[in-house]
Amino acid sequence: MEKRAYKERIIYQIYPLSFKDSNNDGYGDLKGIIEKLDYLKDLGIGMIWLSPIYASPLKDNGYDISDYYKINPLFGTMDDFDTLIKEAKKRDIKIVMDLVINHTSDQHLWFQEALKNKDSKYRNYYYFRKGNGKKPPNNWNSAFSGSCWERVPNEENMYYLHLFTKEQPDLNYHNEEVIKEVENILKFYLDKGVAGFRCDVINQIYKTSLDNGKFSLFSRGREHYENQEGNFKILERFRKDVLDNYDDVFLVGETSALTPKIGQEYIDRRALDMFFEFDHAFCKSFKLIPIFKKPFYKPKDLFKPIFKWQKEVSWIGAYLENHDQLRSVSRFGNENKFYKESAKALSLFLLSLKGTIFLYEGEEIGTLNYKNLTYEETNDCMAKNAVDSAMKILHVSKNRAFKWVNNTVNRDHARAPFEWDDSINGGFNDGHKPWLKINEHYKEINVKNEENDANSILNFYKQMIKFRNNSETLKYGNFKEVSSNNYVAKFLRKTDKESLLIVVNLSKKFFKDKKLDESKEILISNYNNHEKNLLKPFEAIIYKIK
Ligand code: GLC
Repeated sequence: MEKRAYKERIIYQIYPLSFKDSNNDGYGDLKGIIEKLDYLKDLGIGMIWLSPIYASPLKDNGYDISDYYKINPLFGTMDDFDTLIKEAKKRDIKIVMDLVINHTSDQHLWFQEALKNKDSKYRNYYYFRKGNGKKPPNNWNSAFSGSCWERVPNEENMYYLHLFTKEQPDLNYHNEEVIKEVENILKFYLDKGVAGFRCDVINQIYKTSLDNGKFSLFSRGREHYENQEGNFKILERFRKDVLDNYDDVFLVGETSALTPKIGQEYIDRRALDMFFEFDHAFCKSFKLIPIFKKPFYKPKDLFKPIFKWQKEVSWIGAYLENHDQLRSVSRFGNENKFYKESAKALSLFLLSLKGTIFLYEGEEIGTLNYKNLTYEETNDCMAKNAVDSAMKILHVSKNRAFKWVNNTVNRDHARAPFEWDDSINGGFNDGHKPWLKINEHYKEINVKNEENDANSILNFYKQMIKFRNNSETLKYGNFKEVSSNNYVAKFLRKTDKESLLIVVNLSKKFFKDKKLDESKEILISNYNNHEKNLLKPFEAIIYKIK
């Protein structure tokens, strides 16, 4: 297999609003990230993916960009960004940018010009269409609830398309000039030395037609814009026109609604170098059943989808968490008696998978979902829109709607300010009210506590990361599922030289197995006291097969 930096290095995602606030204004910033580079180096990561840091009115926390060439003043300046690249490079850490090009912010100059002047060339940067009688141009609905079409103010029967919030108008990739604009953005950041891009909702950018969509509760119309041939062609052009002129740079796609076959096609055509699948992440989301109770995540909800992708595609971005998901220990681990064991088991599981490993800030210290987050404290636009829609469509009270959304899709659980220590605001800043409330558990779960505890989750992550960084087998070995039942997964990672067997129990049960330790040597495990041929609750082991 071809060796590449992006395949070997562990990538750590930073959500800049929440990582470290160096100037005590309530928002994380670039100087804060620079302050913490030594922490990241010590953790063992090799790249940082920055969620968007560009100028933005933050309607969707930066995924609504108003100027691709400017840094949001809340985060700092372009000089700070250059310093970050330089300082990261000194520590052999590469920077990956978030590329949000399905849409811009409605505050972007292009969109503002398009609104002001019907004859402006920018009109054709977006989708402006006449309504269908009194109705919008088609029946598509937005991923963030409601119609995909918003009326253009002061114009008779005119609408624009937005797959996400109405403040995020979609760009028109039938327009050659839009493609050129994006290529210039890519060049601008590649020239600064970034190593690649995480491409936001990248398999939806090309709308083949604007015809009505088939009946569906969520994202109606998707068959007209998901994984279209035009989408592949645009990405192939980015590769040829831009990326191929730089060394060792890569694209990772955020691609929901994918099959392994289509995912592999993105890789084979070099449209993307890898992608994120969402089967495990969305296993209980956007389903109506949990409206009456908190969803219960079973180990197989994680194993089954992950193994499907591990087996069927040649490379993948492997992850358990990101800024859009609930915390993994709260879902697939145990928040109580086996908290530490389960967080470490998830760490061992993730860091043993095939593909490029992505960690999300806070995952390494076992951060949990909020216990008590209210509707009023929620910032996430998607969660709020989902509450409104549930009230309207399902006729449930706000309380019930919020409970449902909060238990399944409220993205704020992942966005709480990072817990550095047990001082005010968890050391995120010096006391200014943060943009989103601090997680209630910061006095116990924080970096400082865990650095001082040899048995902490953080120290286990460091050990696991080091192990992976030194293991050719984990980086480049094949993946083979050995068995998985409802609670325990076993899989092999194998090269010509070595076979590793990974065993992970994601349940509170004990399992006796006469052959468990036979002809094997334990290389790393999350218990200090493994008992022969017994798998304890949430015990996870990497064996070398003799
Ligand atoms: C992606 C991002 C998410 C954002 C959406 C719209 O899914 O990860 O945070 O809201 O795209 O840009």
